[in-house]
Amino acid sequence: MIVLSVNGQDHALDIEPEMPLLWALRDEIGLTGTKFGCGIAQCGACTVHIDGVATRSCSVAVSDVAGHKITTIEGLKTDKLHAVQQAWIEHDVPQCGYCQSGQIMAVAALLSSNPNPTDADIDNEITNICRCGTYPRIRTAIHRAAELMKI
Ligand code: FES
Ligand code: FES
Repeated sequence: MIVLSVNGQDHALDIEPEMPLLWALRDEIGLTGTKFGCGIAQCGACTVHIDGVATRSCSVAVSDVAGHKITTIEGLKTDKLHAVQQAWIEHDVPQCGYCQSGQIMAVAALLSSNPNPTDADIDNEITNICRCGTYPRIRTAIHRAAELMKI
């Protein structure tokens, strides 16, 4: 039995210790906001936070994250939208939307460690792939989210 703490709730799961976290989130717990893209830690569609750090959940085993605080896109919002979600709405960022929960989780982690990212910081830190090419709107929205977090 593996116990995962996801969005503040414990889930006791009868699963193999080497199961990728993404599988447990989607297939065992039913949190489908986190997406499967490449399965090899390249695209970022599966990004969640482990103890606040952006992590590609397709490539981490559940046994390695038991006892740690896992946050998915479903748990990012608290009493109001997270600043990144608010900025995403203001700038109408998503196109098909498939990559966007991973993008938002990556950006939320970036802003928590770097509240004023430069364009170079964004290029270095946000390596998630968007097949629709929403990168210009993502960049604009990241700067807006940084502003919103100071209000
Ligand atoms: S599905 Fe995990 S990085 Fe692509
Ligand atoms: S919005 Fe379609 S893949 Fe990014």
